[in-house]
Amino acid sequence: MSKGRFITFEGGEGAGKSTQLKRLVAHLEAEGREVVATREPGGSPGAEAIRELVLKGSADRWSPVTETLLMYAARRDHVERVIRPGLARGAWVICDRFADSTRAYQGAAGGTAPELIAALETYILEGTRPDLTLIFDLPVDVGLERAHTRAGTEMRFESKGQAFHERLREGFLAIAKAEPARCVVIDATGTLGAVEARVWAAVIDRLAVHD
Ligand SMILES: Nc1ncnc2c1ncn2[C@@H]1O[C@H](COP(=O)(O)OP(=O)(O)OP(=O)(O)O)[C@@H](O)[C@H]1O
Ligand SMILES: [Mg+2]
Repeated sequence: MSKGRFITFEGGEGAGKSTQLKRLVAHLEAEGREVVATREPGGSPGAEAIRELVLKGSADRWSPVTETLLMYAARRDHVERVIRPGLARGAWVICDRFADSTRAYQGAAGGTAPELIAALETYILEGTRPDLTLIFDLPVDVGLERAHTRAGTEMRFESKGQAFHERLREGFLAIAKAEPARCVVIDATGTLGAVEARVWAAVIDRLAVHD
């Protein structure tokens, strides 16, 4: 059985992650691979229940530290029940947001201590780390414009203001710079087809997808 791979899609609001994730899944399935497409917060029944708590309501419903703990409660359930079982049977697990979103949203933009987040990664993830992380990068105003034109009720983070989203963008770029072996920054400007080609090129380059 071929080895499972774990790919995460990260970046700010409206960058095109969910749109491009579907396209990557189609590419991989066309090659005959088993793919588990999933998302955070959520991805398992328990974690989806927590998603309702964190993505709805007023912007200040939770403090950044409380939010960090809710995200990690959800993430642990998702890792135990979906991600690890998928990887263990050789599937490619493609996840829309993962641990870097906590570093960027609750950490860089929200002010939660990086030491707390690092400890949670160590003790809660226990080595379940992405093989490849695609960080979608886009000017903040373009991303929020895209996000606003899309229908949806999960508006808590979109409503946090321009300065928050600028810190978020810098936070994601800092992660890519600190971990270049795992991360690829994807220029998320341009057409859907142009971004799709950048995503596919990164996957081939980093994961030797044709092996
Ligand atoms: N390259 C693009 N050009 C123009 N519009 C785009 C592009 N990519 C995505 N969009 C549109 O922008 C909106 C947001 O895209 P999408 O939902 O994929 O972003 P996201 O990164 O998943 O956002 P969020 O973090 O809020 O979940 C959608 O309406 C989508 O159709
Ligand atoms: Mg999305």
